[in-house]
Amino acid sequence: MKNFINGGLLLMALMLSTPEVSANPPLAYEGRRLYVSYCLLCHGSEGKGDGPLAKAMDISPADLSTTVRSRSDTILTKIITGEGRQTITGRDRHNLLNEAMPEWKDVFSANQVQALIAYLRFLSRAKHELMGDPEVGMQLYQKYCQVCHGTEGDGDGIMTNLMGITPMDHTNPNETNALDNEEIARRILDGKGRYMPAWRGILNQTDVEALVSYIRLLSQ
Ligand code: HEC
Ligand code: HEC
Repeated sequence: MKNFINGGLLLMALMLSTPEVSANPPLAYEGRRLYVSYCLLCHGSEGKGDGPLAKAMDISPADLSTTVRSRSDTILTKIITGEGRQTITGRDRHNLLNEAMPEWKDVFSANQVQALIAYLRFLSRAKHELMGDPEVGMQLYQKYCQVCHGTEGDGDGIMTNLMGITPMDHTNPNETNALDNEEIARRILDGKGRYMPAWRGILNQTDVEALVSYIRLLSQ
C-alpha cells in the first residue's frame, strides 16, 4: 500500500511538472547552469576573470568575455577538456597547459562542452546583464508563453499557428539585444499589439525579470 501511494504521488508529481510540449533546454541556458557551478569561481559571473577564487591564484583566470571571440569551437573544446591543448597555436603566450585551468574531460559529456561553449559565446556578445533567475524564467516560459512563442522561443507555438500570428523570434540575438531589459519587461507587463497579452497582475516583477533573462538565453 505504501509503495502504491508513493508510486502514485511520484506519477502525479511527474505529470504536474512535465509540460505538455517540452524541448531540450536551450544550449546557452544549459551552459550557464554548468558555468555557474564549475567556472564562475575563477572566471567570475560575467566571465571577466574576477571570480572569488581569482585573487588566490598565481595565474589570472582569462577574461572569457573577450578571449573566446578569436577562438574556434574546436580550440575551445581542447582548452576546456584539456585534450590536445598542446596543439593550440600560441600556447606559450597563453600558457594554456598551466594546471591553473583544470582539465574537464572526465567531467563533461561532449554535449555539455558544446553547451558551455554556447554560453561563453553568449557572454562574449551579451549587451545586457541577466537581471533575474533564468531557471525560474524557464518554468514560467513553459507554463505561460511557449503556447504562442514556441518550445524553442522562435515564435512557432501551437496557438500562433492556429491564429496565424507571428511573434518575434526570441532565439535571434539581434532582435533581443536591440531591446534593453526594462523594455522587454515592459512589453511583458503591458502586452503588445493585439495578441501579446499583458501579464501585469498575473506575474510579479521578480517573475518578469526571470523571464527576461530566460528570453536572452534562448538566443542561438
Ligand atoms: C581553478 C580556476 C579555474 C576554473 C574553475 C576554471 N578555469 Fe578556465 N582558466 C583558468 C585560468 C587560470 C586560465 C588561464 C590559463 C593560462 O593562461 O594559462 C583559464 C583559461 C580558460 C580559457 C582560455 C581562455 C583563452 O582563450 O585564452 C577558457 C576557454 C576557460 N578557461 C574556460 C573555462 C570553463 C568553461 C570553465 C568551467 C568548466 C573553467 N574555465 C573553469 C582558471 C580556471
Ligand atoms: C496569445 C499568444 C501569446 C502569449 C501567451 C504570449 N505572447 Fe508574447 N507575444 C505574442 C505576439 C503575437 C507578440 C508580437 C506582438 C506584436 O509585435 O504586435 C508577442 C510579443 C512579445 C514580446 C515583445 C517582443 C516584440 O516583438 O516586441 C515579448 C518580450 C513577449 N511577447 C514575451 C512573452 C512572455 C514572457 C510571455 C509569457 C509570460 C508571452 N510573451 C506570452 C503572443 C503571445
